[in-house]
Amino acid sequence: MSSWEADADLLNSSGARHALILSRTHSALGQLAQGMARALAPRQIRISSAAPGRGRVDPLAQRVLAELSVGVADEPPRALDEVDTADVQAIVVLSEEDPTPPALRGVLKVHWPLPEPADGGGTGEEKLARYRAVRNELRRRLIRVFARELAAPAATGAATIAIGPASGGDLGAIQQLLAASLLPLRDVGGAHQRFLAASEGGRVIGCAGLQVAGQDGLVRSMAVHWTRRNAGLGSRLHERLLFEAVLAGVRTLYVVTSTAEDFFAGHGFRKVAPEAVPAALQASEEYTAFVPGGSTVMSRPVSPA
Ligand SMILES: CC(C)(COP(=O)(O)OP(=O)(O)OC[C@H]1O[C@@H](n2cnc3c(N)ncnc32)[C@H](O)[C@@H]1OP(=O)(O)O)[C@@H](O)C(=O)NCCC(=O)NCCS
Repeated sequence: MSSWEADADLLNSSGARHALILSRTHSALGQLAQGMARALAPRQIRISSAAPGRGRVDPLAQRVLAELSVGVADEPPRALDEVDTADVQAIVVLSEEDPTPPALRGVLKVHWPLPEPADGGGTGEEKLARYRAVRNELRRRLIRVFARELAAPAATGAATIAIGPASGGDLGAIQQLLAASLLPLRDVGGAHQRFLAASEGGRVIGCAGLQVAGQDGLVRSMAVHWTRRNAGLGSRLHERLLFEAVLAGVRTLYVVTSTAEDFFAGHGFRKVAPEAVPAALQASEEYTAFVPGGSTVMSRPVSPA
């Protein structure tokens, strides 16, 4: 286990109800982390963010958060003396220097000094790639921080879950599932896509998409509601998606992931170079949002050789 994973597990098990993200003044990192932490955290956990001085809204941070449907308020990032820190129970420091005030010295703290994407020049695309890379790294870490404890699956649960092609009426629920996992959702339902929905008692609890380009397909938007994970539903969605791939004439499947590498490896996917993905599939939001940020690209044949 890497040290960030151990840190994330520590935060996860701490039971902290108020977490404070600290960064340097004018930090895009602080804004990225605050936006995603608020989107992922259960309702009872409060997330604050501050820096030694008052900052300003970073439009590129807003833009790359919007790619994952995370909205951020237009108010400038706050200075430490503007934030009520009395009940802070956990601190995440994102800057090299640690601005923790003396009053909070005894509080549980992790130090994740990540590269500040606002630093340095470059073309617009180069800057965006820097923002996406650090956003994706924070996403990976924060998903682990806010992973929730699962209830044991009900013995009869699997039998009551139906998987089938998604209908237009499922779109809103699918978008909610994707937003909760910080997966892109703006191009869901576009051309050359097949979507599956898993429903239980009329409620959509899982989804998976296939983007088709000739004999190639991109597995995308695979998500299971956190209360239903680790009980085989993702595997069932994958099996059903293979069937959709056969129907669509797809021979090779690709997937882009930074949080479910083990899951896909367990289903026959192997790492490939990002350039191996055919150009038509590289236009997908899952590819444009995650691959420049260093996510893993994997591939498998639809039928075993
Ligand atoms: C990835 C994801 C879709 C998997 O869904 P899931 O329903 O938890 O998947 P499964 O239950 O089939 O498999 C998950 C694990 O549970 C285990 N498992 C499966 N059935 C089980 C059962 N009956 N009892 C206990 N464990 C079981 C599997 O071995 C698997 O382990 P692994 O990850 O080490 O391979 C889900 O974790 C998710 O929504 N993640 C967030 C979104 C995301 O990252 N999507 C991928 C990018 S497109």
